[in-house]
Amino acid sequence: MHKDFRVGRFTYKASSPSILHQTASAASTDMSLTSVLFPNENCTKKQKECLESPKGDTFDIPIKRLEAISFYLQNLEIPPSIITQKRGEALFLKIGCVKCHRPFFELDDGSKVRAFSDILLHDVGEGLSDGRSEFRATPREWRTAPLWGIAKYIRASNNKAELLHDGRAKSIEEAILWHGGEAQEIKNTFMNLSARQREDIIQYIKEL
Ligand code: HEC
Repeated sequence: MHKDFRVGRFTYKASSPSILHQTASAASTDMSLTSVLFPNENCTKKQKECLESPKGDTFDIPIKRLEAISFYLQNLEIPPSIITQKRGEALFLKIGCVKCHRPFFELDDGSKVRAFSDILLHDVGEGLSDGRSEFRATPREWRTAPLWGIAKYIRASNNKAELLHDGRAKSIEEAILWHGGEAQEIKNTFMNLSARQREDIIQYIKEL
């Protein structure tokens, strides 16, 4: 078992280095299922019976199952995107949203992954702090939320979107207005745009 430090890529606090790891972590923390990556029962210190209960000699989820779930997640369809809102696209680039919401990554085979995230942590201000550190992520740091498929998500939630890490933002505009810290100046620039320009950016984001 590795116990070394890896750069995180998944979860709001970028706490997980791979889809396999995150699958095992969710199985442990959300469903109390043990696996080779998380071999211990997920009991709190006070749960004596849980701690003392007999352990079986097999894990709840065998590695083959974790691998199958990861394979499934890795092959989920990428949401289709057709950009018609060119004014919004130009503004998104110009005012610097792309500093964190990076438009694409190029893979070795030349194909592009358009996730609109740099998959890195940023300090986005006290307003978004949850008062809790996770590994090396401070309370104010969050992984740049990928923006691809956001309209599909909003539609799927019957237009009751819950954006940002705790779902507090009910619309794209509200999510943008919560940005502070490293994104403060860019947020201010957004606020100083005309209503039409702000709407162009929002319509563009809905096409990602
Ligand atoms: C300094 C980096 C940074 C900059 C600059 C930035 N963002 Fe973000 N953005 C983030 C982070 C980090 C989050 C996730 C915050 C959270 O979950 O609480 C986020 C979340 C969002 C979300 C919510 C997505 C979701 O699924 O919850 C939207 C929409 C968004 N940003 C749009 C923008 C726009 C538009 C701009 C430019 C005006 C911008 N951002 C500039 C880092 C940045």
